[in-house]
Amino acid sequence: MDITLRPLRREDARAIVTAEDDATVRFLSGGRSTVQGTEEYVDRLEREAAEGRSKRAFGIWADGACVGTVDVDPQVTDGLEPGDVNIAYGVAPWIRGRGVAVRAVDLVCGIVAERNLGERAAIRASAENSASQRVAEKAGFTFSHEMRSATDVDGQGKPEVLRVFVREL
Ligand SMILES: CC(C)(COP(=O)(O)OP(=O)(O)OC[C@H]1O[C@@H](n2cnc3c(N)ncnc32)[C@H](O)[C@@H]1OP(=O)(O)O)[C@@H](O)C(=O)NCCC(=O)NCCS
Repeated sequence: MDITLRPLRREDARAIVTAEDDATVRFLSGGRSTVQGTEEYVDRLEREAAEGRSKRAFGIWADGACVGTVDVDPQVTDGLEPGDVNIAYGVAPWIRGRGVAVRAVDLVCGIVAERNLGERAAIRASAENSASQRVAEKAGFTFSHEMRSATDVDGQGKPEVLRVFVREL
């Protein structure tokens, strides 16, 4: 399978919404997405980038179709050290378990390194999210620590317990 990343565009909104399931809502988006809301999210990222914010989102493309997203955000501080660049991702349910997320994380680490965005890539996976923890390990990250998030909540609205994985860039 040919996996590539492309900067996320408004035109990808429908694919992103279609790729969302309960796990994506629980561990990534935090709520049901709509096409309009996703287009507005792309616009907001562009506006904030023009103002100097460094969060970037990419579509994950597999054999010519957009099947998920991966984003990088050097300004996330919750549970991280200065110089850490947070990475978050989601992959459509019908293509999971085929190495798409691991490849996308590897590719985005290359972009983060090339653009000198930080010293380490970091993945903060919920303690309940075994698949995401496995992605981190398979992408060459090592477990750093477990912490209670000051920003993210679990399914009951309580602070999420996050396992932090890091990889030198
Ligand atoms: C996490 C997620 C991105 C993984 O995508 P993916 O393309 O299936 O990942 P990969 O195929 O690259 O690797 C998945 C690994 O996790 C394993 N895995 C999948 N589901 C699992 C589960 N419930 N428990 C344990 N391991 C699991 C797979 O077996 C595979 O490991 P293996 O190759 O050793 O068998 C996908 O499940 C997803 O989009 N989940 C919802 C959003 C999310 O959780 N995002 C993470 C936020 S940090």
